[in-house]
Order: sequence, then C-alpha cells, then structure tokens
Amino acid sequence: MKVFVSNTFPAEHAEVLRQRGYEVEQGSDFAKAKGAAAILSFLTDRIDRRIMESAGSQLKIIANCAVGVDNIDLAAAKERGIMVTNTPNVLTEAVAEHAVALTLGIARRISEADGFTRQGKYKGWEMDLFLGTELRGKTLGIVGHGRIGCRTAEILQRGFDMNVVYTDAVRNEAQEEKCHIIFMSLLDLLKTSDVVSIHVPLLPTTFHLIGEKEFQIMKQTSYLVNTSRGPIVDEKALVRALEEKRIKGAALDVFEEEPKLAPGLKKLNNVLLTPHIASATKEARGNMAAMAVNNIIAALSGATPPNLIQA
Ligand code: GLV
Repeated sequence: MKVFVSNTFPAEHAEVLRQRGYEVEQGSDFAKAKGAAAILSFLTDRIDRRIMESAGSQLKIIANCAVGVDNIDLAAAKERGIMVTNTPNVLTEAVAEHAVALTLGIARRISEADGFTRQGKYKGWEMDLFLGTELRGKTLGIVGHGRIGCRTAEILQRGFDMNVVYTDAVRNEAQEEKCHIIFMSLLDLLKTSDVVSIHVPLLPTTFHLIGEKEFQIMKQTSYLVNTSRGPIVDEKALVRALEEKRIKGAALDVFEEEPKLAPGLKKLNNVLLTPHIASATKEARGNMAAMAVNNIIAALSGATPPNLIQA
C-alpha cells in the first residue's frame, strides 16, 4: 500500500512506515497521490474534493500533521468515507510558549530594540529608550479557551500575574472556578483586555472574527497576539488600526494569505512577525510526525486511528 507524504518529513518517521511495509512516496505534486491508501498532509496543503477524487477510491485516510484541519474539505472526505486525523495535545506547550514569547516580545519591543542595537544606533543608555509595558496586573483576554488557550492563560497568569478573562463558544463554569478566569462576551473582552490572544480554530464562524469594528473597541494601549490562523483577523483592518495607533501593537505568527503579508504590515514597527513557527520545537514537531504516522498505521490496519476527526 502506498502512503503519499506531501512535504519534507523527518526520515526516521517515514522509515517507520517503510518498515511496516508501506511504499512511501514524497513530494509536493499531488498527482503522485494517485493510488495512495493514505495521504500524510500539512497545513499548507489545500485538500479538496478534486485531490481526493484524483487520488482514487482506495484512499482511506488523510492524516494531517497539524492540529488545525481547516485546510481539508471535511464534508467531501465524509462523503467519500475517508478518515481525517490531526495531531492534538503534542503541540499545546510549544504553541502556548510561542504565544507567551510573542506577548513579551511585543510588550518589551524586543525585535525593534534588537534591530536598533544591530544597526549601531545604540549610542548610550537613555531613560526612555524603548519603554515597554509590564504584564503584571494587566488583563489577558483569551479568545478560545481550548487546550492551547488554557495553557497560554495558565503560563501568563502563574508566571506574570496577569488577570485572565476568556470568551468561547462554550462557557465552562467548572474551569472558571478552578483556573480563576472570568467569562465574557467577545466585545466585553476586547474592551477590557490589555493583551488579546487568539486561540480559536478557523471556521466559517471565526473568519474575520477580529476586524474593523473590533479594533474600534479594543483599548488604545492593547496588543493583539495571533498564533491560531491568519484569516481569523482581518489583516487589512489590522494594518489600518496599527497605522492609526488605535491599538498599541500586534504579534503575529499567522497571516491571512500565507506566506504573503498584507500591504503595509512589514513597514510598521509596532508589529512582531514570525513565519508560522508556533509549533516548531523539536519536541512538538517530532511528536506530531509520530502521531500522524500512528494514525496512518492504525487506519491501514483496520483499527480506528487515535486522533480521528471524522469517520
Ligand atoms: C499549526 O498551526 C497546527 O495547526 O498544527
């Protein structure tokens, strides 16, 4: 049976598939997925009905090496009886740590100050050189209190004494009590928060969740941090809000049309930009690869894969 792997993938994990007797075909050309029983895909692949059809009716599983599955047409997979799996949990820590790094980075102007120092502009200590914002006692607004949102809140609450408010499609009162967090509507959260950190999946209901209206509501002193998916934020509206100083800054790991950036974004110095690397730790990426491989092995041996999104 053939497994098509659509991107670079750690050799030792591909080897596990070969040792199981599967033929592993690698490359970015989905024409090579023809005849495959499994596709090991990545968030950069748009897996639509056409790709599923051209792979053929023997295709049993699409194992996405990511926690988000917004790149896969789940309805088309369901119609064709193709299982879809993801890689939850193993990247929670990495993404939460990156959200914290971005929060500190933008609040303390790390990248701006680094550029300044490297460019030889540092001529001596000054009382007001790169004044930033302290996190202690400030309010963190978590948009989407799932695994990653919850862990980000925990680190910033325990480590930096931030107060935490959250919004989610589903309110969890038990968790509110246990974690000392307060539920709010999105609009109240935006009015209240000093840092707004986004952790919702990309769905039709979360597309442009943060746009022109929301930037009008946010505090002028607040920061936006996005480690989830780019299209949740209307990037053009964000650029306008940053240009007009309606919010203080933004730290983004994801963009609306990756790898493109919205016009004007990179000219701003009140932004911190990273290239979709929130889960890029050796630990997380290794575990994600292993998880995707295990899902394929389970599905192809007739078992239910551990991280099944839908049958
Ligand atoms: C990363 O963005 C993921 O969804 O795994």
